[in-house]
Amino acid sequence: MSVPQPPEPIPGARLLFSLDPAVSHLNHGSFGAVPIGVQRAQQRLRDEMEANPLRFFTQGLVDRIAHTRRHLAGFLGAEPDGSALVGNTTTGVAVVLQSLGLQAGDEVLSTDHGYGAVSLAIQRECRRTGAVSRVLPIPLAASDEQIVQTIRAGLRPGRTRLLVVDQLTSATAKLFPAAAIVGVAREHGVPVLVDAAHAPGMLGTTVSSIGAEFWVGNLHKWAYAPRGTALLAVAPQWRDRIDPLVVSWEQDSGFPARIEWQATLDYTSWLAAPAGLFTLRSLGVDRVRAHNAALAAYGQRVVGDALGVPPGHLPDPGGPGVALRLIPLPAGTATSVDAARALQARIGERLAAEVAVMSWNGRGWLRLGGQVYNTADEYERLAVRLPALLAQR
Ligand SMILES: Cc1ncc(COP(=O)(O)O)c(C=O)c1O
Repeated sequence: MSVPQPPEPIPGARLLFSLDPAVSHLNHGSFGAVPIGVQRAQQRLRDEMEANPLRFFTQGLVDRIAHTRRHLAGFLGAEPDGSALVGNTTTGVAVVLQSLGLQAGDEVLSTDHGYGAVSLAIQRECRRTGAVSRVLPIPLAASDEQIVQTIRAGLRPGRTRLLVVDQLTSATAKLFPAAAIVGVAREHGVPVLVDAAHAPGMLGTTVSSIGAEFWVGNLHKWAYAPRGTALLAVAPQWRDRIDPLVVSWEQDSGFPARIEWQATLDYTSWLAAPAGLFTLRSLGVDRVRAHNAALAAYGQRVVGDALGVPPGHLPDPGGPGVALRLIPLPAGTATSVDAARALQARIGERLAAEVAVMSWNGRGWLRLGGQVYNTADEYERLAVRLPALLAQR
């Protein structure tokens, strides 16, 4: 079968980034890439901070943070004062977990598509409180309906205190039907935490349409914000119960200020985050989404072809706009997290291509992203060179 045409490139977009031109950066999903204009905006804020630190921190910073958060929340369709800025998704998850007041006998339910660090956080909170972590297996090819059914059957009302699901999974690049899952959990009285690390900037679904009790997403991946920018949205009935990890001066100011103010930190990433949205809007939000998703799909097909994977065996993320795609690696490759990391580093060094290699349920996968700075030939070069590298074990 022939590979579909790649999307039209967005002219000049690569010039917005300071990425090393000698490398193909095909893994925007892991740590993002900050456009030069956004880096400059953050540097200007840092200059302001260093010109007069006392004034920067004591005169209006809390309000500037609130103003920024309202803007970012508006873009994501979250309630402006029902959301809090946090440093990253991992922190948002930790804030929620430690605010639940878990007790012995309670359980936290999640799926086997969950992000590794989030699973570790669940396990630690369960160990600390005597609660139990239960993980539901969900086949990679499960339909939305099957996912919802599996979750419905897995909920134990009265025991399950939290359900954690991803909006778009990291290891498997699979879109979960978050709103439908929240609906089912609500019928059973179980609150849901949606790990939406990849959603802001990539997926168009609004936070309010998902309706989860807790939703946390990174702006420092697909929304071009400086690293250290994430939004945690919390349903009204939970806002008084959510406590920060670190108690600081805004502790008595209620939600969200008490979550946001975390003592002396560099808050410039948050203040510069609107410049990331400005870049996204300047390029055209829908155009960027369509481009990135089509390019990732193209990359999946050319690399999949080169590895001899029939198109029908390439996982489909399950929805439009997804700019992450998986290709199965030959059997026996990257069967553990350590082996996956080693292969990822080897591809980076030998092929000058940064990719994500994932190990999920004992099998290895290549995860490719698409971004405005990528071009079709970067995936084509990888496709030509990868089979030989994989053949050298
Ligand atoms: C699904 C998912 N959850 C959580 C995270 C953690 O994000 P961060 O490192 O910004 O906390 C990631 C990072 O890639 C992710 O993909």
